[in-house]
Amino acid sequence: MAAVDRFYLLYSEISRSCSVYIEALAVAGAWYTARKCVSLALGTYRALRLHVVPRLGGRMDLVKQYGTWAVVTGSTDGVGKAYAEQLAKRGVNIILISRNKEKLEAVSRSISETYQVETDFIVADFSKGREPYPAIKKALKDRDIGILVNNVGMFYNYPDYFTNLSEDILWDVINVNIASANMMVHIVLPGMVKKRKGAIVNISSASCCQPTPMMTIYGASKTYLDYFSRALHYEYASKGIFVQSLTPFLIATKMVEHSSVASKPSFFFPSAEEYASYAISTLGLSIRTTGYWQHAIEFTLGECLPEWIWAWFALYFCRIIRKEALASQVK
Ligand SMILES: NC(=O)c1ccc[n+]([C@@H]2O[C@H](COP(=O)([O-])OP(=O)(O)OC[C@H]3O[C@@H](n4cnc5c(N)ncnc54)[C@H](OP(=O)(O)O)[C@@H]3O)[C@@H](O)[C@H]2O)c1
Repeated sequence: MAAVDRFYLLYSEISRSCSVYIEALAVAGAWYTARKCVSLALGTYRALRLHVVPRLGGRMDLVKQYGTWAVVTGSTDGVGKAYAEQLAKRGVNIILISRNKEKLEAVSRSISETYQVETDFIVADFSKGREPYPAIKKALKDRDIGILVNNVGMFYNYPDYFTNLSEDILWDVINVNIASANMMVHIVLPGMVKKRKGAIVNISSASCCQPTPMMTIYGASKTYLDYFSRALHYEYASKGIFVQSLTPFLIATKMVEHSSVASKPSFFFPSAEEYASYAISTLGLSIRTTGYWQHAIEFTLGECLPEWIWAWFALYFCRIIRKEALASQVK
């Protein structure tokens, strides 16, 4: 018998005895493909519902939904100021909290004149441990706070190695990025629970997507906020409280002025105003979102990457940014 015939006989014998396995594999393949199709369809539906539909249809009445006043921390610049303006545009009265009295007065006046809402401000430095909270608690005592935006946050001058950060920076990041959100929620939430309505927005960051070297304590502080928000939502949703974790990628604000690329608004790096106008339309719709559709694409890709590839990219880009920042300091 020719070799070809023998091979053909062997092949048909093997396929006959394997036909059950091949059919089982085909069923598993069809199941996998169907699941992928359903999750793709659901993902597309969720993305449209979150990032497209709210911008086409009518706006949610935030005053009716949550209450008349909003408190925004870190609100004289960047995202906090832009978010406060978006809230005021929707008729919500605003209480601003930051360190600088002159800047607070100017932003407060500009918001009340532009949007015809009431405004107030509290001067507080969140890096001072427990010190600012008794005064904040007193100032907010009889106010109908419907929305709390825990926006205040700090980064170091540029991405850096952990041992290059001073002890003061370590404490400031913990106090400003983590403790402030805990304390503000602790002050405001009981009033919301009593009314059985309210919203809390915690501005985390996409650096919580995976461990991010050279942004180690910043990323860890933002991961804390992300978990804090999500757990809090499950704890208080049944009491009428909506808690949202916002996880944006880079936004062109003062915080990223060390990077020549990210500090200029572009397709992937929105200005604070553009970012806030998108992010606010996701309030009440998603408990965890980047708030901006271009960032949602980046976040989904980031989550799919193996951790070591994410870390490799982070190290690569952070080293470049650090070098650029150090070079500009020398000039
Ligand atoms: N920019 C980004 O690429 C990016 C990306 C992801 C997440 N985020 C997060 O978004 C939030 C806002 O960032 P941003 O870029 O808008 O920051 P920003 O432009 O640096 O503004 C920070 C604001 O916080 C206030 N502030 C700073 N330290 C404070 C302190 N110790 N006590 C009280 N107020 C303080 C500042 O006002 P005064 O100086 O007048 O006090 C300012 O109004 C942060 O939580 C940040 O982590 C930013």
